[in-house]
Amino acid sequence: MAKVDFKPGNMLYPLPVVLVSVADGKGNDNILTIAWTGTICSDPAMVSISVRKERYSYPMIKETGEFVINLTTEDLAFATDYAGVTSGRDVDKWAKLNLTRVPSDKVAAPYIAESPVAIECKVTEVKELGTHDMFIAEVVALHVDDKYMDEKGAFHLEQAKPLVYSHGKYFAIGKELGKFGYSIKKEK
Ligand SMILES: Cc1cc2nc3c(=O)[nH]c(=O)nc-3n(C[C@H](O)[C@H](O)[C@H](O)COP(=O)(O)O)c2cc1C
Repeated sequence: MAKVDFKPGNMLYPLPVVLVSVADGKGNDNILTIAWTGTICSDPAMVSISVRKERYSYPMIKETGEFVINLTTEDLAFATDYAGVTSGRDVDKWAKLNLTRVPSDKVAAPYIAESPVAIECKVTEVKELGTHDMFIAEVVALHVDDKYMDEKGAFHLEQAKPLVYSHGKYFAIGKELGKFGYSIKKEK
């Protein structure tokens, strides 16, 4: 067995793929698909998205310093792809995809009702990296679908059937293999 050497590139997969909703504060809003996203700090809760300058959504994020990350599901797979291969310059993605706007608490961009989790974000820093600008942002509000909450107040994201992106393809997540810390838990 041997490894094949690829030219250095992005191969950190699988990844979450998210629908980012944006607005310009003047009545225009949009949705785009982002895979270059990540959790970067626990406290304060911070995330990043990396966006190419040529995206229609880019100036809305840059000028308002705001966006919402909406998590995706198997049911949202078509919308996730579509929002990533069409531009708000040419099509109203909300209407075309039958997605419902919900006014956010802290940012101008609405969030997507059909998504199980909406993460309202305010940009604290922009890093020009090359092809993409990285928007580093603080989480300012978080909304989760009550249908995935149990009677004890625990949230079961897996019941929403999250979507993942891996090397150009979309996948459903597989079976649970263990809980955080299971590797050192003593058997009863
Ligand atoms: C699976 C997938 C992941 C994507 N990830 C990113 C990304 O991380 N950053 C980015 O700038 N564009 C990304 N795109 C491309 C944009 O979503 C796409 O160019 C979109 O048409 C931009 O929309 P807009 O012009 O309405 O802003 C991705 C597209 C797909 C399908």
